[in-house]
Amino acid sequence: MEDNPRFFDLIGNVRAMRRLRTDPVPYDLLMKVLNAGVKAPSGMNSQPWSFLVLRAPAEKQWFADRYKAAIESRFGSSDLPSEDDSPMARQFRALRYQMDHMHEFPLLVIVCGLRDWPFKVPQDERVGLAPPNYGAIYPCVQNILLACRAVGLGAALTTMHQVFEEELMERFQIPVEYGVVVTMPIGYPMGRFGPVRRRPAEEVTYFDRWGVTAP
Ligand SMILES: Cc1cc2nc3c(=O)[nH]c(=O)nc-3n(C[C@H](O)[C@H](O)[C@H](O)COP(=O)(O)O)c2cc1C
Repeated sequence: MEDNPRFFDLIGNVRAMRRLRTDPVPYDLLMKVLNAGVKAPSGMNSQPWSFLVLRAPAEKQWFADRYKAAIESRFGSSDLPSEDDSPMARQFRALRYQMDHMHEFPLLVIVCGLRDWPFKVPQDERVGLAPPNYGAIYPCVQNILLACRAVGLGAALTTMHQVFEEELMERFQIPVEYGVVVTMPIGYPMGRFGPVRRRPAEEVTYFDRWGVTAP
C-alpha cells in the first residue's frame, strides 16, 4: 500500500499555535474540527467528551483573567530578554502572548471528559470524584489539533485552567459528572505552521529489553 505523504507532512507540523488572529471562525468550520475530535477511540465506544465553546466577549474575558493570574502565579510576570532566541525563550514569549490576548481569540474550546474510574482502582477504593477519562479525551484533542491544521486553523492545547477548575465549573455550570481536561484557543494563525522538534522514535524505542535499541 502507498504512503499518504500529505498525512506525514501534516502531522510533522502540528505545532502549538499561540498567536491567533481575532477574525471569527465560521460555525461550520468549528463543527468540522470538533467532528474530527469525536472520531477518536474510547473504551467501549463510550465517547465521554463534551465541548463548551466560549465565544461571548465577557465569558472569554472571565476565562482570560483567571488564566493570566494562574500563569503569573506559577511563572511570575517578568519577560525574558528579547535577545534570547533559544527555543525555550521563544516558547515563553509565545505563552505570554497567548496569555495576554486570550480574550481576543475567536474561540476558547473547553474539552470536558466524563468522569470514570480507571480499571485498576478497586471498587472499595473509589472514593470521591473519579478523574475525567483522560485516555479518551487526549486522542479527541489530538484529532482536533490535526483537523485544525488541515483546515488552516491554529490551535493550542492548554491545561492551566486546572488552577481554577472549581470556579470554572461553577461559572459555566459544568455538571460534576464531568472534569475539564483541556482548553483550546482556536483561530486563524498569525504566523506560519512550522515543523515540530522531537527526538526521533529510534532514540526512544527498545526491543525485548529496556535500553536495547535496534542494531
Ligand atoms: C498534557 C499537556 C499539557 C500542555 N499544557 C499546555 C499549556 O498549558 N499551555 C500551552 O500553551 N501549551 C501546552 N501544551 C503544549 C505543549 O507546550 C507543546 O506541545 C510542547 O511544548 C511542544 O511544542 P509544539 O507542540 O509546538 O512542538 C501542553 C501539552 C500537553 C500534551
